[in-house]
Formats: sequence, structure tokens, C-alpha cells
Amino acid sequence: MSAGADMDSAGIELDQSTVSAQAWGAGSGTGRAAKLKQRLPTFSFLEKAARRRIPGFAFDFVDGGTGEHLAAACNRNALDAVQIIPRYGASAVVNTEIELFGRRYASPIGIAPVGVDGLVWPGATQLLAKAAQRARIPYITGTLASGSLEEVARLCPDNVWLQLYGLPRDEHRVTFDLIRRAEDCGVHVLVATLDAPVRAKRPRDLHNGLIVPFRMTPRTVWQVAMSRHWAQALLKNGAPGFPNIERYVGGGSGMAATAGFVQREIKGTFDWETLARMRDAWPRALVVKGVLHPDDAERAISLGIDGVLVSNHGGRQSEAAPPSIDMLPSIARVVGARATVLFDSGIRSGLDIARAMALGAHGTFCGRAFLYGLAALGSEGPDHVAQLLDDELRTALAQNGAYNCAQLRSAAVRHPAAWQA
Ligand SMILES: Cc1cc2nc3c(=O)[nH]c(=O)nc-3n(C[C@H](O)[C@H](O)[C@H](O)COP(=O)(O)O)c2cc1C
Repeated sequence: MSAGADMDSAGIELDQSTVSAQAWGAGSGTGRAAKLKQRLPTFSFLEKAARRRIPGFAFDFVDGGTGEHLAAACNRNALDAVQIIPRYGASAVVNTEIELFGRRYASPIGIAPVGVDGLVWPGATQLLAKAAQRARIPYITGTLASGSLEEVARLCPDNVWLQLYGLPRDEHRVTFDLIRRAEDCGVHVLVATLDAPVRAKRPRDLHNGLIVPFRMTPRTVWQVAMSRHWAQALLKNGAPGFPNIERYVGGGSGMAATAGFVQREIKGTFDWETLARMRDAWPRALVVKGVLHPDDAERAISLGIDGVLVSNHGGRQSEAAPPSIDMLPSIARVVGARATVLFDSGIRSGLDIARAMALGAHGTFCGRAFLYGLAALGSEGPDHVAQLLDDELRTALAQNGAYNCAQLRSAAVRHPAAWQA
């Protein structure tokens, strides 16, 4: 695999996806998409709509972080504190296309992996896959997604990536079978999550009874009854399961048995030895997700890993973890041109994407933004979020005198909380 810094989009030809940054603005265009841009113009509007439209336990599942929610809040504050010093005199025509691992994408916006996404919106996996294919952006489907990786690969053949959690029993027999399936169905990039070695305490889920086995209470039944659209989607798509895992559970398996298997067998991390074996077994690009220390990035590169996703899991694992944006510059420095640097945790706007790119990311991913889109708008949600983030990114590029993402990476940035080794 070639290294990240060589894969950027400097000097690419302008094509149909290249529009003037002026295209974004209140009232631009007609039709449904334009109406949504006016009614739900930012993440905050989507979040409010989401809260009203899905059951409280489902909203809490998405929104909640670990502990007192401090790490999730810190991600936000840290991103807000990053300032880009604008330069002027460049063309106002911008292009958001990028190249990652030899493949072109329309924008440096990807959909992060989400387990049990069908709880947020029944049918979520399929909707996210279709939207990613339409928008030409990467979609990392999860080991614990509510749709199978084979189905996602059919719906999103050009942009499908797969996230893996470790299943260590029997020398990772299941992990390596998932890798084989991923290769068979054309997954482009494998993403191994490192940052969930233990099940984090998420107080809101505990309070809502969102534990295995899940039991409905009068309160949860009431919440579902009050969420008409969500309940209709549930009737249409059924309760979320773990289709990637079901075949490994063994005879007589039902939902309870599968959930028990997931609870027992899945470990949300890999040791370096297993990563080295994965490197040998997987012929395409391999990324590790959840890297926060430059030394871990260095170790990953020494194993031949192609990319590091700098992430603190959206503040859902360790409350003491630093905001991932504060670790991004030192990791990007250590990695240099040897691998691709990706970023997530806290992105709420195209401006946040511009901030991450200016601090060294080649591409970014969003979890909650797409989930709130689904919750607020159902099937229309992921398209709206992708469009909204891309429009905002174009504005940020033009405002900061960059005509493509590569130029943004050399912008002058003020980032006082950046971690120094
Ligand atoms: C509801 C939910 C479920 C998630 N499930 C997974 C998962 O199964 N595997 C994983 O690697 N990350 C998972 N994540 C973390 C995301 O992939 C991503 O790192 C995080 O959402 C980024 O932060 P953001 O939500 O602020 O964009 C999950 C995040 C959320 C919100």
C-alpha cells in the first residue's frame, strides 16, 4: 500500500462534484433536499429533532458517553478551540475529493462503525450503506452492525470497509473467518478496533435497562408507543440482531443465545501479535482504530499497518482519555508519509472536518452525526448529513483560501491544547 501523504488530492481535475462554495446558503435550490437544508441546517437542529423522534433509551444509547460524559464533552470543547487562520486570494471554486488507499471518494467524510445501529433506527445498516454508495463516501460497517457485511457489500460495493472487534477464542478462529468473508465479498479496508478492551460503564444505558438480556419495562413500552415513526420502522425491519455473528453461535441459537455469545466472546481489542497475523492474512489496506498515543501509531506502522484512526471512541470508553483532536498533530507528525491518518470523535460540522484536516488528517469519520440524521429523518437522514457536512466543508475550504483538502493540510492553525511529546 502506498503511504498517506502521497495519496492526497492536490492538483486534481475539477469535475461535476466541484461546485462553487456559494452553492451553500439559506434558500439555495428547490425541492426536498433544499427544504431540509433550511429546516435542519446544522447538527444541533438534527440532535433536537432526533431526541423528539426516537424512544428515550435509543437516544441515550447514541448520545451517552462513559461515566459522567466528560470525555464526550471534552471532544467538543477541544474541537471548538482549534482556530484556522484564513488566507485569501485563492479561487472560490473548491473540490472536496480525496483519495484513500488507492480509491477516490467525493469527500473526506466517512460513516464510523456503530454496533447495534438498528436500535437507533431499525434498518439503519442498510440505509447507511445505500447513502454511502450514493454520496461516494466510505462506510465502515461494524462487526456488531444490524445488517450483514455481505448485504452491505452488495448495497455499497464501491465504499465498504469493515470494522472488527476481536473474538479471541480458539486462536481467533471467528476473527479470521470474518476476514475471509470480508475478502470474499469485496471489502476494501479492514479496521481493527483497539480501544474497547473492557466493557465501559455507560450509566444511561444501565439506568434504561439496556443490558443483555434486554427486557421491556412499562417505561420502555411507553417510549416506543410515543415514537410512531420509529415503531413503524421496527415493524418493517424487525428487532436488531447480530447477523455477522449468528452463524458462529451454534445450534438452537435465537436472539438471546446470540446476544449471550456476543457478551461472552467479543473483546473490543487486539494484541500486537494478532494484528501481525491479521496483516499476513489480509491483502488489502488495514487500519487500527482508537489510537491516541504516537508510540502506538509507531508500533502499528512497524507491523505494516496502512492507517491509524485517531479516536477516543466518541468519549464512550475512557473518561480520562484526551480529546482525540489534541492527540492528532503529534500522531500525524510521527506517522509522516508512512501511513494514512484518519480521525474521529466529536465532529459535528464541515468546519470540524476542516479543523481535523488542517491538523494532519487525510480523512475523517462521524458516528453520532449520521445516527442523529437517521433518528431525525429516517431514510432521508444519512443523505442529508453527508450533504450538510460536505456543503459546510466547501464553505470552510473557500473561507480559508484552500481549493482542495490537500491545501487545507498546510493551513496555519492555532491549537493551544495540542499534546506535545
Ligand atoms: C451508538 C454508538 C455505537 C458505536 N459502536 C461502535 C462499534 O461497534 N465499534 C467501534 O469501533 N466503534 C463504535 N462506536 C464509535 C464510533 O465508531 C466512533 O468512533 C465515534 O462515534 C466517533 O465519535 P462521534 O460520535 O462524536 O462522531 C460507536 C459509537 C456510537 C455513538
